[in-house]
Amino acid sequence: MSVFSDLRIQTVKQSRRDQVDFDNLGFGDVFCDHMFSLVFEDGRWQRPEILPFGPLPLHPSALSLHYGQAVFEGLKAFRGKDEVVRIFRPDMNAKRLVGSCKRLCIPPIEPEVFYAAIEHLIRLDHAWIPRTRGQSLYIRPIIFGTESHLEVRPARTFRFVVMTAPVRKYFQDDVKAIELKAEEKYTRAAPGGMGYAKTAGNYAASLYPGELGRKEGYAQVLWLDGAEHRYVEEVGAMNIFFKFKNTVVTPELHGTILPGVTRDSVITLLKDQAMPVEERLVDIDEVIDGMRSGELEEIFGAGTAAVICPVGAIAYKGQRHEMSKNSAGPLTRKLYDTITGIQLGEVEDKFGWTRVVDVDAAVSAAAAGD
Ligand code: COI
Repeated sequence: MSVFSDLRIQTVKQSRRDQVDFDNLGFGDVFCDHMFSLVFEDGRWQRPEILPFGPLPLHPSALSLHYGQAVFEGLKAFRGKDEVVRIFRPDMNAKRLVGSCKRLCIPPIEPEVFYAAIEHLIRLDHAWIPRTRGQSLYIRPIIFGTESHLEVRPARTFRFVVMTAPVRKYFQDDVKAIELKAEEKYTRAAPGGMGYAKTAGNYAASLYPGELGRKEGYAQVLWLDGAEHRYVEEVGAMNIFFKFKNTVVTPELHGTILPGVTRDSVITLLKDQAMPVEERLVDIDEVIDGMRSGELEEIFGAGTAAVICPVGAIAYKGQRHEMSKNSAGPLTRKLYDTITGIQLGEVEDKFGWTRVVDVDAAVSAAAAGD
């Protein structure tokens, strides 16, 4: 792997893997033994390192802590019954990360560096990849400004870190539908803002309304547009799809919505099956009317962490509107099975979405050492 001819590797003395209860995984409760780290200083990315996973030094006045200059990604690796380790569509994450970096004045990570960092880590910690269906190895790359300064301006130093964690699906039950609250007051993103970028600030904006919704019993907020609170945007942890009788509809990407990798996968799979799919403005009234009339047959979210998640009810204007079934409909189920099947190597990967990691290749061979 020539990308990292100077990779420095410091391995753990003793793996923590045996202490992990793989039957009771959460989402990001436990992390693998190692992390990847790359520092940007003096106008360039410095020597890459793999370190034991753990705390990093950060100055209290680091710009990212004060002004939110941080972007991240989320992708997954799987081990199939065939023992092959596959990462799902890392090219999409690498590309989106470059776009997020641009929006937040962060020097971009080249896709080749992105893949190499992930592949080296997975080779070292592949024993952590869960073997239970529904579980996976979640990969979380993050870049944040580290420069100690209080002027509001882009940092001059950054750190790129990749951490990995064995996880269950974000919403534990893949059949039972979750309930959403359509948010009429607060806004996730506004035109001209950062909605399309995967940046910490977008998630910070969602915390308070999310907590209010949770207190009322709703798992997530269904964001409406920032100008009129009329058009459906996304769910924060996932994009949203509506299956009407004759067509599947999802909000179009116009800058305020995260361009999800699973969203793109769903659209591609539907088009491949000649199912009509529309990316357009979706009025919340159209959704509520469709739920009332039965014209709207299924609602589901799509995201890396959430996979494909059925939605069983939406609260809007103080009223709770229910789908007829509180479980995954046939299309939701089929998409879930197809996507997870491709990820596990059980369904033909006709779009070339998975990237195989040769976990038997020696990591040390690529390392320059100290
Ligand atoms: C993902 O699906 O990977 C996400 O980043 C969503 C959420 C868990 C933050």
